[in-house]
Amino acid sequence: MKKYLLLLFAASTLFGYGQSTASLAISNDSKQTISKHIYGQFAEHLGHGIYGGFWVDKNLTVKKQGRIRLDIVEALKKIKIPNLRWPGGCFADEYHWRDGIGPSLQRPLMVNTNWGGVVEDNSFGTNEFLELCKLLGTEPYITANVGSGTVDEMSKWVEYLNFDGESPVTALRKKYGHPDPYKVSFWGVGNEPYGCGGNMTPEYYANEFRKYASFAKDYHNAPLRKIACGPNVDDYNWTDVIMKNIPAKMIWGISLHYYTLPTGNWSKKGSATNFTDQDYFNTVKSCLHMDELITKHSAIMDKYDPAKKVGLVVDEWGVWTDVEPGTNPGFLYQQNSLRDALVAATTLNIFNNHCDRVKMANLAQTVNVLQSLILTDKEKMLLTPTYHIFDMYKVHQDAKYLPIKLNSPDFAMNGDKIPAVNASASQDAKGKIHVSLVNLDSHKNIAITIDMKDIKWNTVNGQILTSANVTDINTFAKPNTLQLKAFVDAHKDGSRLVVNMPSKSAVTLELN
Ligand code: AHR
Repeated sequence: MKKYLLLLFAASTLFGYGQSTASLAISNDSKQTISKHIYGQFAEHLGHGIYGGFWVDKNLTVKKQGRIRLDIVEALKKIKIPNLRWPGGCFADEYHWRDGIGPSLQRPLMVNTNWGGVVEDNSFGTNEFLELCKLLGTEPYITANVGSGTVDEMSKWVEYLNFDGESPVTALRKKYGHPDPYKVSFWGVGNEPYGCGGNMTPEYYANEFRKYASFAKDYHNAPLRKIACGPNVDDYNWTDVIMKNIPAKMIWGISLHYYTLPTGNWSKKGSATNFTDQDYFNTVKSCLHMDELITKHSAIMDKYDPAKKVGLVVDEWGVWTDVEPGTNPGFLYQQNSLRDALVAATTLNIFNNHCDRVKMANLAQTVNVLQSLILTDKEKMLLTPTYHIFDMYKVHQDAKYLPIKLNSPDFAMNGDKIPAVNASASQDAKGKIHVSLVNLDSHKNIAITIDMKDIKWNTVNGQILTSANVTDINTFAKPNTLQLKAFVDAHKDGSRLVVNMPSKSAVTLELN
């Protein structure tokens, strides 16, 4: 018997299965708020994100307003998406807004050179995007064309949307059905100028930004929040040059783009559904890199902006895999598994914990593209595991940030290791405490003891997202394999909270 137990112990240690423990302390000592804009989304003219996603054929038999698909709108309203970035991405730097206004049939065609070379009819333009934002109850975040556009084009686009007086462009806005200004506040000045947005140096782009931003005016009751293009991944020099060369008063934020690639290799990124435990480990390890990126870019920003007035805007993030077999490689259509959900939950914990600097973020890209919240197939629609994480985490939007101290066991694999647990916490306007926990370990359950410090609470309830395998997905045939369930494995133990987290799970607790 002794021999058997020893063998069992050795096997569980060897294979890393079983149970381990973590501890977490949460304090009330903060004046920071987690901006709701961290929970933003991104919708580019790419594949079936806009055309065939939000904007469908008039003959498709789903509930629509005009050509906007309302089942998608309803689902996104439920998770309270705070802002939507549009029209790109790389697409933004070849988009000319005047081609997308006026009678639909008179709009010129355009070739989407970045994404599959498809020809678009410009039927989804500025007014349609703003109508979509209105239906969603979300703030628009427009990216202006710097790469192939002009200063005047951006300047007039702002005037078209925000000026409340008489001018040639506002006359057009009125003629096309919108007498009142839209008052669009978030403006991206170009996209990825280091690459598809013009292959510029940071010095050159900083000058371009200053010029474009100078002529994008604040109109009456419509002040702009201008976002400069910040670094790609770990290009720390880019951040330094931008912060040095653009006066802080000209910018509301600078962007950061970072994608999680399962293999780390752009030419063979790895499958969204067919992956090994080692692939899973590599992917979640890669997503944790976001923490280091934010810490280091933020430290550079501190040199020029110690008061942290300029936000870091992570306006492209998420898992980027190979496309689903048989789909157009230019359309970036990928499935979405429990792995994606755990990446999303972990990344949102990272953002919450950096809310002093991260003021906004946009998951790429909402519907049918990259790490989507929603997938569609003609009339059918499904909510991905990532959608459920955004549903679960919406409680942190605009809540008071609660600092944490975490002691996590390792999640080890083939000689490499990462922290198995990550977490974040906040207190909402009604005084409710929300604690989000992720156990990345694909095999071990983890008992987490939480010391609530000076925070008083009596009852706890929660929600969990997990499944039998990290590869599990929702399909059109079985759309509810992964969905939120009530979580009952948390209890009060004196002043402490004890939580038994199953392996590969994300939980959000509410304490009253
Ligand atoms: O999100 C897909 C693409 O990734 C965007 O168009 C571009 O900005 C980035 O490289």
